Amino acid sequence: MKLLVASDHAGYPLKEALLQEIGSQHAYQVEDLGPPNAQPVDYPDYAHALSVRLLQDAENSLGVLICGTGIGMSMAANRHHGVRAALCTDPYMATMARMHNNANVLCLGARIVGQGLAQAILAAFLEGRFDGGRHATRVAKIDNKQP
Ligand code: RB5
Repeated sequence: MKLLVASDHAGYPLKEALLQEIGSQHAYQVEDLGPPNAQPVDYPDYAHALSVRLLQDAENSLGVLICGTGIGMSMAANRHHGVRAALCTDPYMATMARMHNNANVLCLGARIVGQGLAQAILAAFLEGRFDGGRHATRVAKIDNKQP
């Protein structure tokens, strides 16, 4: 599995910390999509770039987007059909985002969660598995127009 990771300037320090953590503890092929430093950037640029990249190999990819609150990243990423970005502030949300919503992008707010909590949220997201069944029907309806 590929794990794509990106942030804006507010999320940059947490991105760097999580990249070290992921590298040592998880069997993912990690790709850092930037930014390379904490100079101010616009979060939608990174959310869109990661989303486009993820959708090129959606079956085998997960993403992590980090900004100050996680809100802007989740808004931008969810504009892409096929991206299911979940803003999570605790590990339970991350587990359920995978189990029930088949989330493929985790959004984190670096100004909301500390590094230790972010690591726990990420671990729950990476370990989570989609339950399928009735949840697959519901997830399909996310993309379908309702009558
Ligand atoms: C940057 O100041 C901040 O607006 C951004 O990181 C994010 O929180 C947006 O949702």
